[in-house]
Amino acid sequence: MSEVAVTAPLPGDALERLARFHTVRVREAGPPLSATQLAAFVGNAEALICLLADRVEALVFARCPRLEVVANYAVGVNNVDLAAARAAGVWVTNTPDVLTEATADLTWALILAVTRRVVEGDALVRAGRFKCWGPDLMLGAGLQGKTLGIVGLGRIGSAVAHRGEAFGMRPLFTDPRGAAAADGRWPALPLDVLLAQSDVLTLHCPLTPDTRHLLSAERLRLLPRGAVLINTSRGEVVDEAALVEALEAGTLAGAGLDVYEREPAVHAGLLARPDVVLLPHLGSATRETRAAMADLAVDNVLAVLDTRTPPTPVVDPRK
Ligand code: DGY
Repeated sequence: MSEVAVTAPLPGDALERLARFHTVRVREAGPPLSATQLAAFVGNAEALICLLADRVEALVFARCPRLEVVANYAVGVNNVDLAAARAAGVWVTNTPDVLTEATADLTWALILAVTRRVVEGDALVRAGRFKCWGPDLMLGAGLQGKTLGIVGLGRIGSAVAHRGEAFGMRPLFTDPRGAAAADGRWPALPLDVLLAQSDVLTLHCPLTPDTRHLLSAERLRLLPRGAVLINTSRGEVVDEAALVEALEAGTLAGAGLDVYEREPAVHAGLLARPDVVLLPHLGSATRETRAAMADLAVDNVLAVLDTRTPPTPVVDPRK
């Protein structure tokens, strides 16, 4: 029997399943742990299941020599020092696939909310300001025939593109990792060319040193006037101050954001704008998906502790 440290209670019954085989220590829900706090919490545990805001830095690997696996309860692993994990001989796993459809759905919820002014309309009705139907009441932008620019055509980007076709949009993509569309179905373009054509630009790339501030002030200026930016990836991919400037200048018609540069803090310039829809990082937040993520994290831990290859490794310390 090994010890597994879990930084928050997880939906579904995956942790009960884990507890049939190992000692499971679950922290009460609370603010994310710093690296020092996390190392203290992990202690002598052999496995860690952690959340995307927990900082799994080199210090954690140095102070927790018994650690064999970090199972991140997220597909993004930008909170984990992958090089330090590899150097320490620790597996790192994530939760891909199971959250693809939920995140693509939420991306579309944001696209529709921004372009059809759903949140503004709701506020107007609740404030008692809906007096009568009018030909020019709260006009938004149609999507049919428009271009959907996708940055990062991985699983989620592809699922967003398929939905885009159902809405009559023309998907184009660029992939900072240089990946080509698996089936060649949508044209791949250099980022700057893609930006110049995107009526709706949606971000689905991982956060890496190369993608931090990928959407800089300069790149935001390449978007056509009236474009909309959607971000359900990681907040730091966008220079938030530059985004506020682009909205204030009227270059962009709106933005739909699920993630923030200094999450959970949100730039004051965004909070003030009615043409921006803001969500609290809900991309994968369906009951089904969050339970499936817990199942996958637990499967990864069980495999490593049983000396098997985990289903979804990001760092395989044997290689
Ligand atoms: C992830 O998995 O990386 C999302 O941001 C949360 O589900």
